[in-house]
Amino acid sequence: MNSIGKFLKSLRCSFLNESEDFFLKHIDKSKLPAHVAIIMDGNGRWAKKRGFSRIVGHKVGTETVRKVVKIAAELGVRYLTLYAFSVENWQRPKGEISALMDLFEEMLNKEIDELNKNDVRIMFIGSLSELSHGLQASINNASKRTAKNTGLTLTIGINYGGRTEIVDCMKQIAREIEEKRLSSREIDEKIITKNLYMSGIPDPDLLIRTSGEYRVSNFLLWEIAYSEIWITSVLWPDFKRKDFLKAIYDFQRRKRRFGGLEED
Ligand code: IPE
Ligand code: IPE
Ligand code: MG
Repeated sequence: MNSIGKFLKSLRCSFLNESEDFFLKHIDKSKLPAHVAIIMDGNGRWAKKRGFSRIVGHKVGTETVRKVVKIAAELGVRYLTLYAFSVENWQRPKGEISALMDLFEEMLNKEIDELNKNDVRIMFIGSLSELSHGLQASINNASKRTAKNTGLTLTIGINYGGRTEIVDCMKQIAREIEEKRLSSREIDEKIITKNLYMSGIPDPDLLIRTSGEYRVSNFLLWEIAYSEIWITSVLWPDFKRKDFLKAIYDFQRRKRRFGGLEED
């Protein structure tokens, strides 16, 4: 390619990569993914690259959470689910874990008024009873205060594990059978879905993962059966509104076949 060609190509790429307006103009608001789930990854690497402690990365990451919740609500996405802490994350150093837990509590207490004002309904998934009393109190307060809101439903996974969710679901179903409220013959996909943490919420249409890792890390194992997966190498603290918009723009250009054939 000659130098003019290269120059034009770089212009086109930067246009596609950088313009928020471009995506806003080209996203079809009538075909938004109803449910977007995000594996927010890369805080530690972002901090390390700058010579900061991992905790600084987590702090800056909370800014991205704020931005993403805002743009999702503005666009009209119905459900946004964020993976904040996995059951496997307890393997990290104690200092990092307690900084993360403090950050969750601080952020919840600080943001709740604004979220409530913006009609956001907040929900939590995970083994919440294993969290500190202070964090559980903030979680209960946030869920209760926003329970009747009808705007964006924001679900946060804290101490969440996809396999744990399935185990909890199985236990619940077994209990119903023991108590003769259900027979084993009645078990089907609907019964399982009903007993998962996000009962009543549609499966994610779009699953975003930042930081360039090609894995699901025990997130929503049952629910992502047919989600469109969108991976970016951008680290979570660097993730911008336009990255979220680009994911939706790309999503709208996918052909979802669900095992069937494309319609003409
Ligand atoms: C994601 O960032 C946040 C949590 C898992 C809590 P990481 O802390 O995993 O950052 P990296 O992947 O080490 O860069
Ligand atoms: C996934 O990130 C969990 C969250 C984003 C909360 P991890 O950083 O824990 O995942 P792995 O270890 O790279 O698979
Ligand atoms: Mg990580």
